[in-house]
Amino acid sequence: IKEDLALPVGTTLDRFIMRKQEDFPFATGELSQLLRDIALAAKIVNRAINHAGLTDIGGAYGKQNVQGEDQQKLDVVANIRFIRALRNGGEVAAIISEEEEGIIQTGNMKGKYIVAIDPLDGSSNIDVNVSIGTIFSIYRRTSELGTEGNLEDCLQKGTEQVAAGYIIYGSSTMLVYTTGNGVNGFTYESSLGEFFLSHPNITIPKKGEIYSVNEGSFNHFPEGVQQYIELCRVRNYSARYIGSLVADFHRNLMKGGIYLYPITQKSPLGKLRLLYECNALAFIVEQAGGKASDGQRRILEIEPYELHQRCQLYIGSTDMVEEVETLLVARG
Ligand code: AHG
Ligand code: MN
Ligand code: MN
Ligand code: MN
Repeated sequence: IKEDLALPVGTTLDRFIMRKQEDFPFATGELSQLLRDIALAAKIVNRAINHAGLTDIGGAYGKQNVQGEDQQKLDVVANIRFIRALRNGGEVAAIISEEEEGIIQTGNMKGKYIVAIDPLDGSSNIDVNVSIGTIFSIYRRTSELGTEGNLEDCLQKGTEQVAAGYIIYGSSTMLVYTTGNGVNGFTYESSLGEFFLSHPNITIPKKGEIYSVNEGSFNHFPEGVQQYIELCRVRNYSARYIGSLVADFHRNLMKGGIYLYPITQKSPLGKLRLLYECNALAFIVEQAGGKASDGQRRILEIEPYELHQRCQLYIGSTDMVEEVETLLVARG
């Protein structure tokens, strides 16, 4: 009986979202509905991922996306699932996705929101059973209700996000999100089909001892970054790099650490995408007490000029990010 009573019977994600909505007497519940739509798609994608080795859903899709990456079948499936859930939900006017070149019009012209999404993050890890994720940002549209979402709606600065989050399909599946009032994490109980509040008020340690970077590209990093990595080695920090941004970020958020993706020869502007990778995690890390920078600027203040814009990313514990920034200023 002890065993059974230990099962989660806490706050469900739905209940949590509803309670939060009660804090805003003039809120109409549309953002809450939108978050629930994302959670629903996350459950469906989670199921597909869990079956990946059993069904014909693994492997390459045979096409490239707009950034010239080989799409995996699950990239495409996740993209369809999230778009469908947001279209059916009705709250979103337009979507930007890693997997689609242009703005996706949902047909919900009365929808107040714009979503930017990386449907499946960590593509290269799908077929080897390593943690992958989904990243999303939510903005209020600036265009008039009753029209289609336009480029201006989609190119808002990260500071304008009304909510952002990620799902990590890891040893357990979690949804972590913020609406600008702290960060909360929910763990999925698959037999009940519910996310339960498991990590209330997440904060990131100010200092950390983990650094996460693809060190294979060391020789191409800016000198300041090379110097920082050398410092990490001297200090005996732990090197941890999964190769799924969501998973690397999540670990460092929990334990304290820094994730670095500098410019390289292969990616002269950085690899990660501002609108649907960096901004969401930057909003979350700041809400948890950490920092996100492109080496010089706060990520959230970068002015976007195109949908698939890339930038450098240094994100995690405040002291660590500031140290890299200082070295980059001194060394370039
Ligand atoms: P995606 O799978 O959505 O295209 O993102 C890939 C990103 C990110 O998940 C990860 O941190 C990074 O690529 C890894 O890049 P490297 O293989 O160059 O280290
Ligand atoms: Mn990709
Ligand atoms: Mn990604
Ligand atoms: Mn992706």
